Amino acid sequence: MSELEAIIRAEIERAGPITFARFMELTLYHPQLGYYVGGEGGREPVGWAGDFFTSGDVSPLWGWAIAKQIHQFWQALGAPARFDVIEPGAGRGLLAAAVWRYALALDERWAAALRYTLVDRAAPDAPLRARRAARLDAELAAIPAPPDAVCWADNLGEAASDGPITGCVVSNELVDALPVHRVAIHGGQLAEVYVALDERGAFAEWLGEPSSARVASYLDAYGVPWRGYGEGWRAEVCPLAEDWMREVAGIVGEGYALTLDYGASARRLYTRERPAGTLMAYARHHLSERPLARPGQQDLTAHVNFSALARIGAEAGLCVSRYTTQARLLRALGAPEQAEQLAARLFPHADSERHTDRGQADYLRRATLRNALAALLDPRGLGGFRALIQRRVEEGFEKR
Ligand SMILES: C[S@@+](CC[C@H](N)C(=O)[O-])C[C@H]1O[C@@H](n2cnc3c(N)ncnc32)[C@H](O)[C@@H]1O
Repeated sequence: MSELEAIIRAEIERAGPITFARFMELTLYHPQLGYYVGGEGGREPVGWAGDFFTSGDVSPLWGWAIAKQIHQFWQALGAPARFDVIEPGAGRGLLAAAVWRYALALDERWAAALRYTLVDRAAPDAPLRARRAARLDAELAAIPAPPDAVCWADNLGEAASDGPITGCVVSNELVDALPVHRVAIHGGQLAEVYVALDERGAFAEWLGEPSSARVASYLDAYGVPWRGYGEGWRAEVCPLAEDWMREVAGIVGEGYALTLDYGASARRLYTRERPAGTLMAYARHHLSERPLARPGQQDLTAHVNFSALARIGAEAGLCVSRYTTQARLLRALGAPEQAEQLAARLFPHADSERHTDRGQADYLRRATLRNALAALLDPRGLGGFRALIQRRVEEGFEKR
């Protein structure tokens, strides 16, 4: 039995069944042993050598497009002399490097205004964080970005310790990694799914009353007609995502939040057609059906309720300026045209010298670039991710 498994079992033995959110908190974020802290071996969980990849792994085109979007935010704010980008859930810092590459190549004034802060729960003293920071520093030095191009913070409050920012908070696949509660219809009532120990001492599901009024009323708050769904219907609810959005709104003084993730509006997420919810476990690029297995060694994730982010943001003055798919956003930002320009520049012999080695190599590399773009735009894959842009609005009128 792993050390983390023993810690979770001890907590259940001591206090009784724990919510799935607590289980997820411990498996993903235990300060020394959690999955996103690097687990017991300190390994990198994200990327081709890890358990799952994200858009930034697929192609630099993604980072280029998101950097362009952030640059447009700066322009829309009137090109302020200081522009903060705060990235919660920054992971390896792929986007930070892309933003700096874009700024230094295309707009020196923006580069001079840019302050980039990465926020991640992988603790500062975790070997994983140190390795990520060293890798990012080397990449930034090669661009070359200024020595103080990025800084790291442990939470949003620390990232905005000077007060609310002018700029944006951008995140990719962060909200899907926030601990969720699981609810289920049981005897016509809404029950919560807890994690308990079975008679053999293994982790097992246990149904009980909702652990809080917030969990109990969450689906009703978003108008989900769950009472009409059948016995056994399940879903994940994430009050933490609401808290996170409120915190984001609290640090954006002037500017934007851009949230990229898989998910949908409450109306599309919590349907009769999804009777088992959206909880997924990932290990080594395989989907697992066993979320309670191997704590700390597999990712746990659930689709994001974008209605919650939109509603909580609006309550705090961050109003939706665009809600779309990643594919549409990338197209609007010109990713397909950028891919063809890059291909023409980097692989000039792809058409003219197909009979030579050089021409064949260019032809293959261009195909790889085009395939990567297709993956980013695939509506059944990364292209189907949602992109939510919210903007600070004061007292019913936009500042600019
Ligand atoms: C799925 S990974 C995505 C990493 C990166 N954004 C990417 O696209 O490759 C989610 C990341 O969010 C971090 N995370 C989770 N909860 C967080 C929180 N409340 N604040 C900051 N980071 C958090 C995790 O440690 C993890 O690195």
